Amino acid sequence: MCGIVGAIADRDVVPVLIEGLKRLEYRGYDSAGIAVINDHDVRRVRRTGRVAEMEAAALAEGLQAQLGIGHTRWATHGGVTEANAHPHVSHGVALVHNGIIENHDQQREKLIAMGYEFESQTDTEVIAHLIHSFLVHGADLLTAVQAAVRELHGAYALAVVSRKEPGKLIAARMGCPLLIGVGEGENFIASDVSAILQATRNVIFLEEGDTAEITRDSVTVFGADNHPVQREVHLSDVSLASLELGPYSHFMQKEIHEQPRAIADTIEGVIDAGAFSAELFGADAAQVLNGIEGVLILACGTSYYAGMTARYWIEGIAGLPCSVEIASEYRYRDVVANPKTLVVTLSQSGETLDTMEALKYAKSLGQERTLSVCNVPESAIPRASKLVYYTRAGAEIGVASTKAFTTQLVALFTLTATLAKLQGRLDETGEADYIDALRRLPGSVQHALNLEPQITAWSEHFAPKEHALFLGRGVHYPIALEGALKLKEISYIHAEAYPAGELKHGPLALVTDEMPVVVIAPNDSLLEKVKSNMQEVRARGGELFVFTDADSNFHPSEGVHVIRAERHVGVLSPIIHTIPVQLLAYHVALVRGTDVDKPRNLAKSVTVE
Ligand code: F6R
Repeated sequence: MCGIVGAIADRDVVPVLIEGLKRLEYRGYDSAGIAVINDHDVRRVRRTGRVAEMEAAALAEGLQAQLGIGHTRWATHGGVTEANAHPHVSHGVALVHNGIIENHDQQREKLIAMGYEFESQTDTEVIAHLIHSFLVHGADLLTAVQAAVRELHGAYALAVVSRKEPGKLIAARMGCPLLIGVGEGENFIASDVSAILQATRNVIFLEEGDTAEITRDSVTVFGADNHPVQREVHLSDVSLASLELGPYSHFMQKEIHEQPRAIADTIEGVIDAGAFSAELFGADAAQVLNGIEGVLILACGTSYYAGMTARYWIEGIAGLPCSVEIASEYRYRDVVANPKTLVVTLSQSGETLDTMEALKYAKSLGQERTLSVCNVPESAIPRASKLVYYTRAGAEIGVASTKAFTTQLVALFTLTATLAKLQGRLDETGEADYIDALRRLPGSVQHALNLEPQITAWSEHFAPKEHALFLGRGVHYPIALEGALKLKEISYIHAEAYPAGELKHGPLALVTDEMPVVVIAPNDSLLEKVKSNMQEVRARGGELFVFTDADSNFHPSEGVHVIRAERHVGVLSPIIHTIPVQLLAYHVALVRGTDVDKPRNLAKSVTVE
């Protein structure tokens, strides 16, 4: 969702801010703006629409400065208007904000009574006035920000500048990620490292309640009690290349094709060790994982489908009861909590508010054994968890998740095998077989990617349709769900997924020759059942598009189109069968001409409720 960038340097920072905002575009936004301090005054440019429009306006105004802040806004409080776009300004104080201030109404009333006039409907503008109200009583900018944030309830990442203190950039964090980029004779602020990688790879991750005073040559961080604290400088391993398109047309296409590498990187530790062990999840993991009586997975969207897949593995292989809950539902439900349950949160961004709140709720019920599977180091959810397994998909820019999903799956398979071993259900031969299957997986994924030309040909059938049905059974049912979600998200075709056996209990009524039906039909123990379900579709004139395996002895016929992956890969088959449904969604969207990487109404990381 929203993105922040800020810079202080002895060169013009306007290009740095604009480049940073472009790097943040993938998160989803509907307006953008920058404010700079120049000649002891604030100059600001804001536009609804793309960063490029705001950039053109900034160039036209000849904006140049050595201190500035920028923002991409995803509207929550107040519509998509220039007046609501950030930065917000109060009497020479300019600020950008990610998050939501829950007590903004009370603050607004108080500030209006003090004589402040509001130009926007945002919760953010109250912070600008609030800071100013402390400045007029003699505070310096840092102290005014520290005093203002004490009055706020809710979540914020803030970058603040003032015309009265043109050598300082102030940052504050509570509930939303914010980091400082440490350069040579110049420093930066960003909500996401991708915004500043062009300038530095050295980053300090601010912690909850931190504030910071940043000059060209110094960074001073203060903890929640306003005393100076030391925060480590990390070298970011996000590469600039991962933020570039290279030879691809879209980030989604690039990220689909990166999956063999992303999977190999994610399982590198297991393959190198040649064994599954608790240490893969953290130094003290054995203590947390031993003696668990079940697993609870909390996640949203695509991550939830990864959790649904893992449930088949965890119950079938590790023999542990496993429930999977949509985080936004779990957090508001009266649940029966078992302190010996391992709570696993899945979040590629590590920032999803619903998942974070569900984790907090699970912990409040005494479930302290927590593990996060996440793709973004140092993000909020892993920090709030005892154990962490980082997927190494690399930056995922396309809003529709692809490589983050398949790397979550391999991480969850690794967890399953580890739990099975700890439960005494995996002997040496079984372990060696699973390691071998993982080792061969990137190659099999590459083989599935090679099906692209056949899938491209299918996309022409789908592009004119308004509805599609996806069917799967067993561990492949979540993959049908994921296929339907991908198609919905980027092609805007209405798609539903059902367990194939459920068809005759209702959805069969939808099947006509206008309804393409995608079937995930690998050569597993349920294939014969799936074949019967396909007959039910065919008998009603439905056209079938079947993804199966080379060894399934399944042949095309009238109204039945078939694409074969490699021979059945066994337990990791859901990962292989994810690739064709991703490619199908991508190519259908291409034919329909939608904005593949930035589908309408969606944001990459969902930091609001
Ligand atoms: C869909 C997609 C979303 C996310 C969901 C959770 O392609 O990406 O459904 O999976 O918003 O996001 P994370 O995994 O960041 O918690």
